[in-house]
Amino acid sequence: MNVLVIGGGGREHTLCWKLNQSEQCHNLYAAPGNAGTAKCATNIPIAVTDFEGIKESVIQYRIDLVIVGPEEPLVKGINDFFLEDKTISHVGVIGPQKAAATLEGSKAFAKEFMLRHQIPTAIYEEFTAANVSEGELYLENISPPYVLKADGLAAGKGVLIIDDLEEAKNELRQMLLKKKFGIASSKVIIEEFLTGIELSCFVLTDGESYVTLPMAKDYKRIGEGDTGLNTGGMGAISPVPFVTKSLSDKIDKKIVQPTIEGLKEDGIHYKGFLFIGLIKVGEEPKVIEYNVRLGDPETEVVIPRIKTDLLSLFRAVQEKRLNKVKLEIDSNVAATVMAVSGGYPKAYEKGKKITGLENTNMVFHAGTRNEGDDVVTNGGRVLAATSFGENFNEALDKTYKTLKKINFQGVNYRKDIGFDL
Ligand code: AMP
Ligand code: GLY
Repeated sequence: MNVLVIGGGGREHTLCWKLNQSEQCHNLYAAPGNAGTAKCATNIPIAVTDFEGIKESVIQYRIDLVIVGPEEPLVKGINDFFLEDKTISHVGVIGPQKAAATLEGSKAFAKEFMLRHQIPTAIYEEFTAANVSEGELYLENISPPYVLKADGLAAGKGVLIIDDLEEAKNELRQMLLKKKFGIASSKVIIEEFLTGIELSCFVLTDGESYVTLPMAKDYKRIGEGDTGLNTGGMGAISPVPFVTKSLSDKIDKKIVQPTIEGLKEDGIHYKGFLFIGLIKVGEEPKVIEYNVRLGDPETEVVIPRIKTDLLSLFRAVQEKRLNKVKLEIDSNVAATVMAVSGGYPKAYEKGKKITGLENTNMVFHAGTRNEGDDVVTNGGRVLAATSFGENFNEALDKTYKTLKKINFQGVNYRKDIGFDL
């Protein structure tokens, strides 16, 4: 099979790395890819939302299967685009259609879905410009911290958690009346603040049955001890030590099963990965959000732990026989630590030469590109170094040894991933 992976981050490099190990994978392409995918696939310089460009490449390179990494092309309807065009409708797309991708594209849609199917989540109300004052009144009647969420995609910045009532009311007005996040905040969700520890659950479904991938936990803050600004993710571990058999059964029965069944009941055909962001409140799991893709950097620990051939899993999704597949998981634990550009998540420079990548294993490229014979930085998150171990200490030791060998001007990474385990 010829396979195309859409995207150019650490998640997509990890998918390419794994697909490249499949005997069934003849030619592997990445669009646009990065310097890491260039080592195991052929990069095609096309933007992830350039559907016409993607179509041309699919025809030119005789692609049989397209794996969509990021949410943006899914929410914009890449799967529907393929289905509606006779010249490419035979090509398999792993990733949901637009209607299903609304689970990530609209938080109001996701909350209504959870309410309808009795899936545990934070209590909420939604507001628009037409009822701002009701929103302010709602804030007055709940206790802080106040959680305000822009309905639409806002590049990961649409969630505000605020302690002060006046500030929360002001932000609500900014979002609804001043379009703080553009049309993404024309509707705002105000929800109950949940106290607990977060984890990420990934499901692969063919629309009928599903497999649950190993659980993971990411570390979102830039600073040690989980302090400072939010980032795209500074590291991740898998499995998650606090997920006991009892918690994992609850996640399956109360959340994953009703989600898959709910999609079917609503007539939403879902094919691809579903990322359920969870929070453990006491002993109960609740859903914080749905994403219609894999998480990053969780992918960098989850995918390496899957022993099953990834392409045969995707074929099973295409052929709707995922119920026949038994997922084999490596019993080793995995940890990844993200090396980022100096200044990130605020302003940072790109184009810094990266050294020390020779003889490393499982160093997944997030923001890199080739420049002549060099590999240079090309984003805030640059490289994710993953290692296996019998326990987290061992895995993290190996990862930090690898990171000591790698260098670029301004390199920064958290030294405390897994500190809370
Ligand atoms: P989201 O974009 O929905 O994932 O939200 C971003 C982050 O905000 C989450 O990863 C949580 O850390 C936090 N968050 C979102 N909703 C809540 C909530 N209801 N209670 C507490 N924290 C939340
Ligand atoms: N690591 C969280 C995300 O991918 O959204």
